Amino acid sequence: MIFYIVISVVVAVLIYWINFVPWYYKKNISGTKRSAINQARRLRKPGTNIPPPYPNGWYALATSNEIKPGTAKSIDCLGENFVVFRSAVTKQVYVLDAYCPHMGANLGVGGIVNGECIKCSFHHWNFNGKDGSLVDVPYSDDIEGIKKFAQLKKWTSREVNEQIFVWYHAENEDPWEIEAIPSIESGEMVQHGSLEFEIYAHIQDIVENGADFAHFDPIHSPNMFAGSDITTLHNSKLSIGTHEFEAKFTPSEEKKHSTYISLSQSMRIFGMSFFHLNADIYQIGPGYAVVKMKTVFGESLAVQTGTPLEPLKQKFKIYLYGSRLAGLYVKLILFAQIVNVGRDVMVWNSKTFVRSPLLPKEEKQIRMYRNWFSQFYSQNSKSYQDISNNLNW
Ligand code: FES
Ligand SMILES: [Fe+2]
Repeated sequence: MIFYIVISVVVAVLIYWINFVPWYYKKNISGTKRSAINQARRLRKPGTNIPPPYPNGWYALATSNEIKPGTAKSIDCLGENFVVFRSAVTKQVYVLDAYCPHMGANLGVGGIVNGECIKCSFHHWNFNGKDGSLVDVPYSDDIEGIKKFAQLKKWTSREVNEQIFVWYHAENEDPWEIEAIPSIESGEMVQHGSLEFEIYAHIQDIVENGADFAHFDPIHSPNMFAGSDITTLHNSKLSIGTHEFEAKFTPSEEKKHSTYISLSQSMRIFGMSFFHLNADIYQIGPGYAVVKMKTVFGESLAVQTGTPLEPLKQKFKIYLYGSRLAGLYVKLILFAQIVNVGRDVMVWNSKTFVRSPLLPKEEKQIRMYRNWFSQFYSQNSKSYQDISNNLNW
């Protein structure tokens, strides 16, 4: 009897853990490894004629969860310093320049959220999230004179699909809108986990990966047990079975900022095909993609975000969703993605950027992809050289 009770409790805990506890994978780089990577970065030829590092578009700053009501966070990326905060009253999120115009404190570090405003921690100057204007200075009764100099830049932001995005555009053009995914917004699909990598490459290299069909076989055909290390990928004793791919690229006609790739893959063991997966990949601007996946076990969804932290350093995340009781299935897909993205990361972290790649006719979709991507660069986009000189690394 006790035996059955114990077994039932263990099974219940396991089912709960699989379906209700998300798995967050973050590739942590240790101190010594980080300095080796930074050393390699300094020695590595980045390439010539690198496109502007911060293309125009929407970029994820944080997940909705990370900015709790009444809290603020400092976030540095895209060559900017942002403070992101959420009103405890309306739950609205605001994004402003982080540095206080009074004496330069960072509003995201100890800033006090009050209603739709944020008070700087240093001397309590208070700023409105709606427009970045100075609202009051606690020890001064005449702020009219300094008000127009104390204006913080207000950034256009959106909160959608459990992400907080900022609109970054070199010409300050109006944004396009990010579509809400009904199954996420309604809670029908829940997040079962995510993966996070820091990638040392141009953001275009990452986005282009989906359209680079010729790399699928060399990099992704060994099964996931062969691991992420591309130097041992093909001699792995565990590489029984391979993956096969078929892909097609279509730039979207009605939405200029989106592209669509249909990808199907199956696992081949001893000449037989198993585990067929169809993926519809929608790349939406340079920093955001949605992937709808289907297998015999059901449907799942991936939200991918890429945000430039520095010219050749990206924060790349994939969030995996499925129905509440699809936890095991979605976590297996997450595991396969951790391994496979890990292989791409190893290529990205050591490659150079080639402006005019040598492309045989079979790879014409890469040229099409680059043409499509070029819309995100504009006249005032800051060049790689300008930004790198300022960063001095
Ligand atoms: S530096 Fe922010 S109030 Fe003084
Ligand atoms: Fe890849």
